[in-house]
Amino acid sequence: MGRLVVVSNRVALPEESRAGGLAIALLDALREEGGMWFGWSGRIDPHASGRLHEQQDGNIEFVTMDLSEQDHEDYYNGFANRTLWPLLHFRMDLVDYSRDTYAGYQCVNALFAGKLAPLLREDDLVWIHDYHLIPLAKLLRERGVKCRIGFFLHVPMPSSDLLAALPSHQRLFEGLSSCDLVGFQTERDLERFQDYVRLFGRGRVIERGLMEAPNGRRFRAGAFPISIDTRRIAELAAEAVNKPSVKRLVASMSGRALAIGVDRLDYSKGLPERLRSFQNYLHRYPQQRGQLTFLQIAPVSRGGVAEYRHLREELEQLSGHINGRYAEPDWTPLRYVNRNYPHSTLTGFYRLAKVGLVTPLRDGMNLVAKEFVAAQDAEDPGVLLLSPFAGAARELDGALIVNPYDIDGAGDAIAQAMTMPLAERRERWDAMFRHLCAHDVTHWRRTYLQALRDVHLDIDAHAERAEDEPTEREGGTWHERRTGGDRRSGGERRIPLVAPAPPRH
Ligand code: G6P
Repeated sequence: MGRLVVVSNRVALPEESRAGGLAIALLDALREEGGMWFGWSGRIDPHASGRLHEQQDGNIEFVTMDLSEQDHEDYYNGFANRTLWPLLHFRMDLVDYSRDTYAGYQCVNALFAGKLAPLLREDDLVWIHDYHLIPLAKLLRERGVKCRIGFFLHVPMPSSDLLAALPSHQRLFEGLSSCDLVGFQTERDLERFQDYVRLFGRGRVIERGLMEAPNGRRFRAGAFPISIDTRRIAELAAEAVNKPSVKRLVASMSGRALAIGVDRLDYSKGLPERLRSFQNYLHRYPQQRGQLTFLQIAPVSRGGVAEYRHLREELEQLSGHINGRYAEPDWTPLRYVNRNYPHSTLTGFYRLAKVGLVTPLRDGMNLVAKEFVAAQDAEDPGVLLLSPFAGAARELDGALIVNPYDIDGAGDAIAQAMTMPLAERRERWDAMFRHLCAHDVTHWRRTYLQALRDVHLDIDAHAERAEDEPTEREGGTWHERRTGGDRRSGGERRIPLVAPAPPRH
């Protein structure tokens, strides 16, 4: 079996003490399979992009690349985070498109492809992650890479009308057809992508999860909801209650209940709406005032992007306003914290909380929701308030589903969580925890990687069969050979995935 080669913008290098959910999930995949992780080094080179750093840690080889200031600005701050991020989170109002940043994004993707292609072997399994690297598979194919390539989108896939508003959307999204398998977080994301392919992408949906690009290349797509290491989080959380930082939090609560939110400081997370919901709860449930303290942890993110700086200012104002209005000499209702904490400490915080607030306006999955559930004490679990616009809501049906735009409804839900009887809390939690044990991160990566490998089994089977079939010159079109029959006669039931030979450089 070939190596697993993971490619993502961020790489969790061994010396880094903390890593987000995505990075942890990928690190585990690589530890299990062995292989290479390729991505941005996190460093800016004052001169030029492209310097590589190599580092071995156990069975994982880390290869990372520096970016120049300009490339980082255009690719990361620019097209990835000021164009694609808002677009994919349904925020057309925040999309800032320019040809220059798009060119920078393409250029950095081409650099990734140029550096990675010579390192790849034919039997490698390449797994590309997220919206930073949408064109990468196509650029690798153009450099002669023939191995299996999968792509996974961690963020939502928006409605096709929104995608179609992006200038050059066809060129960009067609690139995904160079993959063998495109993974989404939920079935809804898959459906929206299929709609896009059909309505605006000039392609065809042959059957659910099987598409054909305008160039005739077929590729598979499916929903693979990402998850967490459920049992490990449960263990970490049980141990974390003995950590000094967690004990200090308990002592500071003076017996009051804790509500918690943990999110990158990002406009997709619905943070102003969440603070207003808490304010609404304080206003409309005066009898509960003083019983609940809300801790919102929101580490600063993407500070180089103006929208994130504006959001930070808005939240500072709002939190000051709420505390100014409702605090007592011996109680501060809202603790708003911009720093990050080690992952294990956060699991201890989750376990202490009576209420978990995960109310994004849009989110691909949201692993905090899953971690909050996994971290609870089975004897006395807290209540999860979850937005229907997070991918996790498709799975966590024991949560109180809260529309983040409905400030009154969210205020009511906090009050409901505060008074929910233990039996109901247990029943809701039990179902979610059992689901997460069966659908953990190992299940996610094995299911995805197996599906990616299986796509190629189809190719192999087809290749063997194709030896007996007429060539394009001898008769029959290339399309007919690929599909093993006449297009009109329904000869497309098989799943042959054969790419046109990539040009060699
Ligand atoms: C989201 C994206 C990831 C990204 C992470 C942190 O989860 O899906 O690809 O790495 O946010 O954002 P950052 O810009 O700091 O990498």
